[in-house]
Amino acid sequence: MGEKVIAVLTSGGDAPGMNAAVRAVARVGLSYGMRVIGIHRGYNGLLHGDMFEMNLRSVSDVIHRGGTILYTARSPEFKTDEGVKRAAKTCKDVGIEGLIVVGGDGSFRGARELSKYGIPCIGIPGTIDNDIRCSEYTIGFDTAMNTAMEMVDKIRDTAQSHDRCSVVEVMGRRCGDIALQTGIAVGATAILVPEVAYDFDRDVIKRIKFTQMTGKKHFIIIVAEGIGGVDNIARKIHDIVGIEARATILGHVQRGGSPTLRDRVVASTMGTHAVELILGGKTNRVVAMQQGKIIDFDINEALEMKREFDINLYNAALRISI
Ligand code: ADP
Ligand code: F6P
Repeated sequence: MGEKVIAVLTSGGDAPGMNAAVRAVARVGLSYGMRVIGIHRGYNGLLHGDMFEMNLRSVSDVIHRGGTILYTARSPEFKTDEGVKRAAKTCKDVGIEGLIVVGGDGSFRGARELSKYGIPCIGIPGTIDNDIRCSEYTIGFDTAMNTAMEMVDKIRDTAQSHDRCSVVEVMGRRCGDIALQTGIAVGATAILVPEVAYDFDRDVIKRIKFTQMTGKKHFIIIVAEGIGGVDNIARKIHDIVGIEARATILGHVQRGGSPTLRDRVVASTMGTHAVELILGGKTNRVVAMQQGKIIDFDINEALEMKREFDINLYNAALRISI
């Protein structure tokens, strides 16, 4: 029997720190005498045979870089049964004995489909949204929040100079974690997230008016992407409260940039854990963080878990930022 062959790909939306995860997989795999294959553009690379043999230097100078050196994709072609079968055939032809997928829940669903055709897979949570059910933390979240905070700090300077209200949309379609943490860090007067139903008058207008009465003249409202409509919210604040309001959508700036220390370290440990799972003969697992520890779950169990929004932190934010 030759050396064990493992492969790694990044899939779905990119996230700062993915490179650190890929680097760890490559270096740890090679250190255990495995062959490591890097697959380009997520599952598309398996469909089109776009892959390369990695060595220790393939991942030099990447730990500090945002994006993903393996590129990423959302692959509708892979999502079909035919696509999964073709990808599984490529894995078998190349002799891949373990596939490590860095991505979100969608990418893990793809991995689960592949595993049904006999390809052992391991998932690593990589997405800025922090919306993976089984893990309290996902690679990229810390960098994205810090970027959002820095951007809102800049917006705050001009909002303060002009006595304005700035309404800022941060990323997160179904998950309000970026909005909540950023909202706390910038002292937002209101934070709107998809997990908590809101009443515009009570949760935005009355809060602005109350802080106005106590002497505040500029306001930051943080809105998660899943709520959206920041232009409309700014217009309504202007019309009802009578202050100037401006809307900003931060957008993809939150997905780029050099990963923070936390993202580099978590990605490095998760990458190591993934390789060691394969080494120990464990497959079809998702690497996760729970209470600060790196653990793993069965992929089916991981995909069925429920994620709780931190409502206590949300309520605390409402008391602090007033
Ligand atoms: P994320 O991994 O960030 O959640 P997506 O939901 O876009 O991102 O999923 C990434 C890719 O994973 C999709 O483009 C598709 O190729 C694959 N995928 C998602 N869901 C499935 C599924 N149910 N079956 C097979 N492949 C899937
Ligand atoms: O999942 C990461 C994320 O950045 C979400 O916050 C956002 O809703 C989505 O991806 C944007 O996707 P795209 O890059 O396709 O515009």
